[in-house]
Order: sequence, then C-alpha cells, then structure tokens
Amino acid sequence: MKTNVYTLITGASEGFGKALAIECASRKMNLILVALPGTGLNCFVEMLKQKYAIEAVGIEMDLSVDGNCNLVFQTIKNKKLAVNMLINNVGIGSTMLFEEGSIEFFQRQIKINIMTTTVMTYLFLQDLKKHSPGYILNVGSLSCFFYLMKKQVYGATKSYVYSFSKSLRRELDSELINVSVICPGPMNTNKTVTAINESFNWLTRMSTMNPEEVAPIAIEGLLKRKEVIVPGKLNKLFLFFDMMIPSFLKDFLTGLQMRNIQSVTSMENNLCKN
Ligand SMILES: NC(=O)c1ccc[n+]([C@@H]2O[C@H](COP(=O)([O-])OP(=O)(O)OC[C@H]3O[C@@H](n4cnc5c(N)ncnc54)[C@H](OP(=O)(O)O)[C@@H]3O)[C@@H](O)[C@H]2O)c1
Repeated sequence: MKTNVYTLITGASEGFGKALAIECASRKMNLILVALPGTGLNCFVEMLKQKYAIEAVGIEMDLSVDGNCNLVFQTIKNKKLAVNMLINNVGIGSTMLFEEGSIEFFQRQIKINIMTTTVMTYLFLQDLKKHSPGYILNVGSLSCFFYLMKKQVYGATKSYVYSFSKSLRRELDSELINVSVICPGPMNTNKTVTAINESFNWLTRMSTMNPEEVAPIAIEGLLKRKEVIVPGKLNKLFLFFDMMIPSFLKDFLTGLQMRNIQSVTSMENNLCKN
C-alpha cells in the first residue's frame, strides 16, 4: 500500500467501522476517520497513530446533516490529503414494525444509509480515479436478500446499497476502481445490537460474528476485488437455502423468527415513536 494515500472510513468510532479502522491500521494503511462529535474519535486516532505508526486524521461530523459530507470533503481537500480507498460504513439499523417507528427516524435512516453513501461516493470519485487503483467498500447487510418483517426500511436501504454498488462496479471497472459490497449477517457491534442478536433463535445466534472477525474478511475481499462479500460459513449457507426453498416456507420461518424480536434501533433502546 502506498504511504501517501489515505483510506476514508465513515462511522469509525464504534462497532464495525472501528474494527475496520484497526484492521486497516494493522496493514499500515493511513486513515481518515469520520464519526459523530464527542465520541472519543480523536483519542482513538491518537492510539492508532502510536500503535501502528501510521498517519491518521479524525473528522467529527454528523453526516446526517445536509451539507456535512461536503464539509468533510472540503476539510480533506484543505489538508491536501489524497484518498484512494473509501469505506461507506456509517449506517443506522432498526428492528421494529413500520407503524411503531416515527417518520423522523425513518427519514434519518434513509438519509444516513442511502444519501451519505451516495454523496460521499460522488464527492470522492475524482480523487479515487486520480490515485488508482482505487477502492470503494460499501457496507450492506444480509437482510437485503430477505424480506423480513420489522426490517422494512432498513432492508430496503441496504437493497439500495447492494444495487448501487453492483451497478457502479460495472461503470468504474475500466477506471481501475474496484467497488465491493459487504453483506454481513448479525454482528455484536454495540450493546443494543448485541441485545437484539441474543434474542434471535439458536441458529441465527450461531451465525452472529464479532466485528473484529468480519473486518479482515472485508478488507481481504476488497483488495481481492470481490464483488459481493458475505462473511461467515453459516451466512453463506443461509443464502444458498434462500435460493433453494420455496417462498411460502421462507416467509413462515422468517416470520416465526421476527415476530418475537423486541423493537429497537441501533441508535438507542426503545426508540420507537419519538
Ligand atoms: N451490527 C450488525 O448486526 C450489522 C449487520 C449488518 C450490517 N451492519 C452495518 O454495518 C454498519 C455499521 O454498523 P454498526 O452496528 O457497527 O453500528 P454502530 O455500532 O452503531 O456504529 C456506527 C458508527 O457510525 C457512527 N455514526 C452514527 N451516526 C452517525 C452520523 N450521523 N454521522 C457520523 N457518524 C455516525 C457512530 O458514531 P457514534 O459512536 O458517535 O454514534 C459509530 O461510529 C452499518 O452500515 C450497519 O447497517 C451492521
């Protein structure tokens, strides 16, 4: 990896983004990390710089606010940093019936999961072209392959990420930019998500992975230019069965699974109607 180029990771102070940052740092990749203000991002950045002897910069910014992706872009330009790898990780999860959620929550989820991914990709495309080979890793979810109750808006945003990534990959292939999408199953990233994961049935619990296990698979897959990265043997098996079993049986099994799951979002507990 060249030393004067940077990997930009959104949502990097916690969870999967943090694990991806550590994995990249351990491969001596320089980093630009973006997360919400006041979440200890700068301490994390300092730790990475010292432990792994890399260059790293933290940018505290709420990416759900209009214009803030542009501010991130401008900050990076002002610092004269070159980006050759963009990891669109930031995302808000949820598990709740549609009518239990507030429209403000769904709008924020769509903005973060869809708009931020799209805008960041658009803004950094020229940079990625200039510093080819360039890489884009978009974080989708296994849930984009299944039509699950309580995952209607979340699953749809991840279907967007999946479809966007696959189409863009075909456009950018000749520009030496690799676009990969990773579709993880459940990961124990934060307390709320871990609590949801523990309430799933034994089979889904067995497929749950730690973000530290998934991060090396993600970066390895991206550098090997894989189109779709599905981490974990059981998750791959679920996808295989998904293709094989009839849809009425799938609906019955996933319905059994989802009906008893408590309603939460990855932002905070019991954030239903606010
Ligand atoms: N966890 C799972 O089971 C799972 C499964 C499949 C896919 N995924 C996907 O993996 C990605 C990461 O999920 P996660 O579970 O690791 O999430 P997480 O633990 O909630 O971490 C999200 C990260 O994004 C940051 N963030 C949240 N809102 C932000 C905003 N408006 N502006 C800037 N940064 C913001 C958070 O900063 P703060 O620490 O300041 O909040 C945190 O660093 C998401 O795209 C998610 O959909 C997760």
